[in-house]
Amino acid sequence: MKKFLLMILSIMTMILFTACGETKTENTDQKSETEKVASSSQATTAEANKQSKILVAFFSHTGENYQVGVIEKGNTHIMADMIVETTKADKFEIKTVKPYPKTYQECTEVAKQELAENARPELSTRIDDISNYDTIFLGYPIWWSDMPPAIYTFLESYDFNGKTIIPFCTSAGTYMTGKEVNIPQIAKGSTIRDGLGVVGKDCQDDPEKVREAVNQWLASLGY
Ligand SMILES: Cc1cc2nc3c(=O)[nH]c(=O)nc-3n(C[C@H](O)[C@H](O)[C@H](O)COP(=O)(O)O)c2cc1C
Repeated sequence: MKKFLLMILSIMTMILFTACGETKTENTDQKSETEKVASSSQATTAEANKQSKILVAFFSHTGENYQVGVIEKGNTHIMADMIVETTKADKFEIKTVKPYPKTYQECTEVAKQELAENARPELSTRIDDISNYDTIFLGYPIWWSDMPPAIYTFLESYDFNGKTIIPFCTSAGTYMTGKEVNIPQIAKGSTIRDGLGVVGKDCQDDPEKVREAVNQWLASLGY
């Protein structure tokens, strides 16, 4: 009787182990299927990105700048160049007819007033043919927790229908302020993808740190 019970017990144990083993194999199979789907969709995004024609458009201020003294090349300009380098995109600088004051304090005052008045400063540069591009990386410094007025002028100056806009910015903090979510309402018919904000002074003082963050972000977008 004892032998019989022991036999029953060992058969049940075997059945239990076999069942667990099967479940594990099923899970592994399922996981590898999921991984396959994920990597194939990443490959599709990367393939689609390769086909797309990309422009990096940016606005950036030179002169006396927050925390970095007088600079010849703006923080956002430096970040824009990193994106150009990795994506091999064309580059376009958004410039205003009336330049902003070179001194920081004066510049903040002009910007504050323009934003309060919802101003649309006239631009002195123009993209020859926007239909050449389907993806536009759009860069700017944060001004008073907003996008600079020149960015609003830019977004209202072209037909962005069907285009993808990918915002990026530099600021004294390390964030996008949330104003970028309004981009599709201004550039009608466009869609936006996840942007990146970096600390502006790092572009001057620690560019390799910024480059790493930029390349990680670009990789997450399939570039
Ligand atoms: C007019 C003006 C307003 C600014 N407002 C903010 C702000 O609200 N928040 C912030 O974090 N930085 C602010 N800054 C700092 C800039 O966003 C930061 O220095 C940026 O990296 C400058 O980029 P640029 O060199 O490309 O112009 C402001 C700078 C200026 C000139």
